[in-house]
Amino acid sequence: MATKKRRRRRYRLNPKFTRFLIYASVFIALIIYGYNGITSAIKEIKYKETNEYKLISLGYSKDETSLLLNNLNEETIVNILNEGKYNELYPNILSQKYYLAKNYEKYITYKEHHEKEPYDKVIAIVNVHANAGWYNEEYETDTNKGYLILVNKFYHLSSDYERVDLQNINLKYAYADNKAAQIVIAAYDTMYNDILNELNIHLMVNSSYRPYKDQEEIYNDYKNISLKYADSYAARPGYSEHQTGLALDITSLEHPNQKSFTESEEYEWLKNNCHKYGFILRYPEGKEDITGYNTESWHFRYVGVDVATQIHNENITFDEYYAYYLDK
Ligand code: DAL
Ligand code: ZN
Repeated sequence: MATKKRRRRRYRLNPKFTRFLIYASVFIALIIYGYNGITSAIKEIKYKETNEYKLISLGYSKDETSLLLNNLNEETIVNILNEGKYNELYPNILSQKYYLAKNYEKYITYKEHHEKEPYDKVIAIVNVHANAGWYNEEYETDTNKGYLILVNKFYHLSSDYERVDLQNINLKYAYADNKAAQIVIAAYDTMYNDILNELNIHLMVNSSYRPYKDQEEIYNDYKNISLKYADSYAARPGYSEHQTGLALDITSLEHPNQKSFTESEEYEWLKNNCHKYGFILRYPEGKEDITGYNTESWHFRYVGVDVATQIHNENITFDEYYAYYLDK
């Protein structure tokens, strides 16, 4: 009995102490709750001051907001916020596949002046400098790019540029006096044999390497008709791919003139297969605003199998490829 009594006494809590414990617990709970409440209120106030919150409030989605914040600097974001309303221009420009940060301002300006132009076209035009107007910007092209050298209405060669590995093209598949780079002739040879075996068609090279002087004569002949005509069909001297020795004008024995060649099965075959040999159709239909030339079904340019295949798969021109992948 004595033992039992002693045990009860040991575990009984003083009622005052119990009350104290309850009050203390309630007090601590209130402090914790209050602290959390205050912390989250402060957090909310701080979040409302962020660009993220402000962009979302203007109507930019979460993804668009991230896109803007990840790609633009503080000053540009502030300018966008100062517009005070959602503008689809910014997320649309930034989400384009071939977007280049260095051209951001130019894309915006170009799109604002050409509202109907689709975004992908705006990007392409600016990337290749076509927004400046043909021949309005001039760059000495990088001749160290090997067979990826770019020559167009902005990138030019010096008047004395000539490849050292030019060779005559065999008369079995070229008209007289045609020369091209060795690597181009080898690729053309394989392509010639394959199309001959498949379609029984005989390809013919009409024109290939053209020195500066020859291009000058061609261009001036066209210019006698009109400047606009000349610039749609011929490059100004120094601005022709033919001076690189990497371009071939191809038709066939079966369809020697350019109009009939454009409608021929061999042209269709070349469009679908030339990349396997390292060639691209350099001035395709629908890309006139990017290349600066009317479409030419006969003008093929050697860029090597890998690049030609990528250009074919991505449905871009060499000008776009160069701007995005080689000249970033
Ligand atoms: N016809 C092409 C554009 C040239 O003259 O080089
Ligand atoms: Zn040509």
